[in-house]
Amino acid sequence: MRFSTDLISRLRSATHVAVFTGAGVSAESGIPTFRDRQSGLWQNFDAQSLATPEAFERDPAFVWGWYEWRRARVLASQPNAAHRAIALLAERVPRLTLITQNVDDLHERAGSREVLHLHGRICSPYCSACGLEYPAPQPALLEPERGRRLEPPRCGQCGGRVRPGVVWFGESLPSLAWEQAVQAARGCGGFLCVGTSSIVEPAASLTRVAIAAGSVTIQVNIDSTWLDDLVTLNLRGPAASMLPELVAEVWPQA
Ligand code: OAD
Repeated sequence: MRFSTDLISRLRSATHVAVFTGAGVSAESGIPTFRDRQSGLWQNFDAQSLATPEAFERDPAFVWGWYEWRRARVLASQPNAAHRAIALLAERVPRLTLITQNVDDLHERAGSREVLHLHGRICSPYCSACGLEYPAPQPALLEPERGRRLEPPRCGQCGGRVRPGVVWFGESLPSLAWEQAVQAARGCGGFLCVGTSSIVEPAASLTRVAIAAGSVTIQVNIDSTWLDDLVTLNLRGPAASMLPELVAEVWPQA
């Protein structure tokens, strides 16, 4: 991988770098993306029957069972070299803000701290009635069988149904995380957009904000997206090899 000296010096002088990730960053850990033509979750499952508050209202056991199946896959997966490169980058720049659309915890398990989870966290279910967090069942109790209906547990405080800790279509993003993400996109000198189709709003608008603010923007993706010609640099390839190379070349160990 070769970068122009101008790009390298602009990135190295950035005192704040933001990294914005999507499902593609966890794909090489074995977690399916949403829109991959063959294995994407939304190619194989109907989002409206699974990822809306109405779907949970209508058929809680179907929805809970599906998210428990996904959670089991997350628990059985390990962070990959892309997650680790981002954690390493945080040690090499003055300030790094990591923003993710992913509901898995692979960034944290790779060593990243204070991750802004715009779409929630699959391992943090909570009561749909009173909002109290519910301790997720132990992995040993999980049945990682796709399509199995599972009755959601009941809240110990109010008896309401426990729901997955993710943001569904039609719901607002967590406001503090969103505000911090927008601020980072506006104020950073370097913005990396990694493994996302950039089509789900409002998250996708962050890259536009960074471009408009004049930040150096780099996209890492195995496929083309509508951002290809808008970012400063488009790196076409798998995140688990592109990100370690990028970090090693632009921010080598001091
Ligand atoms: P998508 O499935 O829409 O996009 C994944 C992107 O990752 C695609 O552009 C792929 O080309 C790219 N990709 C796949 N493997 C890759 C790899 N190894 N290295 C680099 N890129 C790779 O997933 P998201 O953009 O994350 O929302 O989807 C956004 C939101 O849509 C999700 O957070 C989810 C979904 O509905 C909620 O759950 C609320």
